Amino acid sequence: MGKILVTGGLGYIGSHTVVALHESGYSVLIVDDLSNSERTVLQGLEKIIGFTPEFIELDLRDKAAVKNIFDQHSFDGVIHFAASKAVGESVENPLLYYENNINALVYVLQNCVAHGVHNFIFSSSCTVYGEPDYLPIDESAPIKRALSPYGNTKQIAEEILHDLCKVSDLRTILLRYFNPIGAHDSALIGELPKGVPQNLVPFITQTAAGLREQLSVFGDDYPTADGSCIRDYIHVMDLAEAHVVALDRLVKKAQQEPVEVFNLGTGQGNSVLEVIKTFEEATSVTLPYKIVGRREGDVIAVYADTKKATQVLGWSTQRDLATSLSSAWAWEKRIRGL
Ligand code: UD1
Repeated sequence: MGKILVTGGLGYIGSHTVVALHESGYSVLIVDDLSNSERTVLQGLEKIIGFTPEFIELDLRDKAAVKNIFDQHSFDGVIHFAASKAVGESVENPLLYYENNINALVYVLQNCVAHGVHNFIFSSSCTVYGEPDYLPIDESAPIKRALSPYGNTKQIAEEILHDLCKVSDLRTILLRYFNPIGAHDSALIGELPKGVPQNLVPFITQTAAGLREQLSVFGDDYPTADGSCIRDYIHVMDLAEAHVVALDRLVKKAQQEPVEVFNLGTGQGNSVLEVIKTFEEATSVTLPYKIVGRREGDVIAVYADTKKATQVLGWSTQRDLATSLSSAWAWEKRIRGL
């Protein structure tokens, strides 16, 4: 089995994917700038996989340093997680987002081409669909104008990869994530948001742990059954395992087109109020919450049509919402010593 460069490999999805890659026999080199992750993630990984994975602290905006990595190692593929992902921050500081999410991608790709690395997996997002015209949403749905620089970087990155794969030997799988939640079964790795969590599930678990007074539900006047927004919450280990299946497909040269796109979701939409209820039932913790106004930029409802991933990748999710939420809670309890 080959060696895979995992950029952003100490981040939330990256670290879980490192575990899944190890389980499938791949070796990894993790690079991460620690801007939104902690070195201690390595200890969690070590406990799970039995050794400390190879890690280099590196800012991918450093073009020379990126070249150096490719000069010194030989990779069978790259999984590119490294990116900034806070929507609000991207509005405040767009150039940081274009530099981190676009410049860095270009440097990595230049080296893939120069060093004959043919297999590339990119972390895209269902945010590229904007407010969908139909549900569940499949991969052929139109890309809508991005509402934030963050969303725009995902669209531009997809275009860069399409352009490059037309004129090079690079083959790419674009994985469009829906809403990843939960943690590894061991609770040794999980989501580590810096500051006040912007995403629903870490806010829920921090509220349950007593770090936050109460959860604000952003709007109950949407045109949905209970008035709150609907998303497709996927267990991060299901998501991680999809990366391995996608990588196997690239390595086996089984691709039909130079760029393939897959939705990674469960196919099931759940409202914010359903998530709260499921969390309470699964954990027996009562969650204080209040309904507040809508959050700017939120789409009403989005969930995946997963047919393509099921049929082409032979992958489907194995863990339900209650399992995902319980695992997020187990992780929160462990890091808070509860
Ligand atoms: C958000 C980003 C998306 C990004 C993804 C991953 C926005 C508008 N979208 O997705 O582009 O790819 O994170 O980082 O920021 N909610 C509450 N209270 C909270 C937090 C969230 O009610 O305290 C609600 C939201 O209104 C939404 C749902 O929970 O309906 C999920 O929110 P969140 O976890 O932030 O994910 P997205 O907004 O779907």
